[in-house]
Order: sequence, then structure tokens, then C-alpha cells
Amino acid sequence: MNLPQQAQFNSQPMQIIHTVNELRNVLKAQPSIGFVPTMGNLHAGHVHLVEIAKQHAQCVVVSIFVNPLQFGANEDLASYPRTLEADCEKLKIAGADIVFAPSVAEVYADFDGNNLNQTMTITPPPMARELCGASRPGHFSGIATVVMKLFNIVQPQVSVFGQKDFQQLFVIKQLVKQFNLPITIIAGNTVREPSGLAMSSRNGYLTSTQKIAAAQLQQCLQQIVSAIKQGNTDFADLEQTAMQMLNDKGWLVDYISVRSANTLALATQDDSNLVVLGAAKLGNVRLIDNIDFCAK
Ligand code: PAJ
Repeated sequence: MNLPQQAQFNSQPMQIIHTVNELRNVLKAQPSIGFVPTMGNLHAGHVHLVEIAKQHAQCVVVSIFVNPLQFGANEDLASYPRTLEADCEKLKIAGADIVFAPSVAEVYADFDGNNLNQTMTITPPPMARELCGASRPGHFSGIATVVMKLFNIVQPQVSVFGQKDFQQLFVIKQLVKQFNLPITIIAGNTVREPSGLAMSSRNGYLTSTQKIAAAQLQQCLQQIVSAIKQGNTDFADLEQTAMQMLNDKGWLVDYISVRSANTLALATQDDSNLVVLGAAKLGNVRLIDNIDFCAK
């Protein structure tokens, strides 16, 4: 029986590759490549992106790489969960074709074993210094740099990113546009727990009590969306009230902000595509979430 090409390819066992050379050799034969970059510790949100990539390309590559360049000095680089074996099991079931899991030295040719001081980096547009970029200086430069490297290594036609990291998605779209990369970026919806909590590798740091409370961030953003849809356009007041509400519940709020979903600039009364974004710490765990919506 003649199977369609897609099914024939999917019958190949998933390959786990650690070096750029081997990956390039394997990818040479592929007619179309879909790419999902991740830092591993995979959950249903990541799997959703793989499923989307499968609809757009015959060969789906998933990278698993905890990128040191996007972590600040006091952040969780050392403790970030590394669960390659379990991740590969999930990716096999999801139907990924290739897992690319390189070392730091493989990705950063200039890594001297201790630091990345000599690394050539990408400076994203000023928007990357706002929202998460304000409290995480260098974060989006680290992301843009590693994603550019991974794009150059994998050379996909299509790459899928989650809306969960709305500002990251915005920076990646700018990267592709401003560096003329021949890659289509597709956004995947945020996959949530039944409580509404956005799935995240960092949710694993939460205690069971904190995990219940963590849904408050999404609820708070949802209240702002409802108020705006009912005609309230005092965005600053809505942000302030929401931040106060979360702080009162024991959160340490970084920001709650209503923005244009197209430009990420502060929302104006004229904008119809809006996004409300939030970042806040519950104990030591920093969580982010957002909801994009049509105001009119
Ligand atoms: P990571 O946090 O592992 O996320 C990988 C991809 O999964 C990102 O595109 C992210 O937006 C998406 N994602 C995370 N949680 C999701 C959810 N609940 N629903 C849908 N998609 C979700 O983001 C990174 O890694 C890194 O910054 C990376 C882009 C790999 C660069 O190092």
C-alpha cells in the first residue's frame, strides 16, 4: 500500500541529535522543516506547538536548550529543570521527527567554558526594554541571539512560538522582519490548566497551595478584559486596581499593562486589538500571562 509522504516520514523513529554537523546532514534531505524552539521540561503547551508545526511541515525539529544568555545573574539558570529523557518521550508521542539538544559550547562557538562575554549579540528594538525587559535587562537580547543562531542552524520554513510569551513572540516577529529571514512565524494559543493558570515549566516550582493561588493572575487579567469590553477605557486605573488586588493577595507584582496587540505600545482609546499583560511573583516564582482581545 502506498502511504502519503507525510505518513511515510512519520513512520521513521524520532532522532535525538546533539551536534550542529549531524543535524545539518540529516536535514539536508528534508523538503520542508517546521521548528519549535524550547528550553525543555515540556508540558502540554509545548506539545500544542509541535502539533501546529506538524500541520505545516513534513519534518518537525524541536530544540531543547536552556539558553544561558537569556538568564539574569540572579535568575534560575542553574536550577532550571532539565528533563531530557521525559521530554523525548512526550515528543515521540506528539510526533516530532528530530530533537536537537546541543551543549552550550555547541551553540556558542565563543563560549570559553566559563562565560559568554565574547558573544556577538542582537540588540532588539526599544520595546524589549519595557514590560519583562524592564526587570530582566538583556533577556530579550539573549532570546533574539539564540533564536537567530537556532534559525541559522535549523533553517526552517516555519517556526511556532507560544502566545503565552507575548512579548517574546513580538521580538521574534521583529527579528524575522528586520533581518529579512525567510521564515513564517506561527503563534500557538496559550494552553492552560483547568484553573486557568497558564502552563509553564516554572509552575513546577510552586507548592500545591501556591498553584491554586496562581490562577489569580489570569483571573485578574480577565477582569480587566471584561471591564474594557464593557466600555471602561481608564486603562491606568484598571492596571492600578488590578496590581493592588494582587499585592493584597500576597503577590509581588512587576507589571500589569494594557497595550496595543499590534505594536505593544501603551493602549490608546483608538486601539481595537489590545492585549493585557501581567508579570508577578508568588513567593520566589515569577509568573507571566496575557490575554489578547478585540476591544470594539
Ligand atoms: P520555553 O519557555 O521552553 O517555551 C518554548 C515555547 O513554548 C515558547 O514559544 C513559549 O511561548 C511556548 N509556551 C510556553 N508555555 C506555553 C503554554 N502554556 N501554551 C502554549 N505555548 C507555550 O520560550 C522559551 O522556551 C525560550 O525563550 C526560547 C524561545 C526557546 C529561546 O531560548
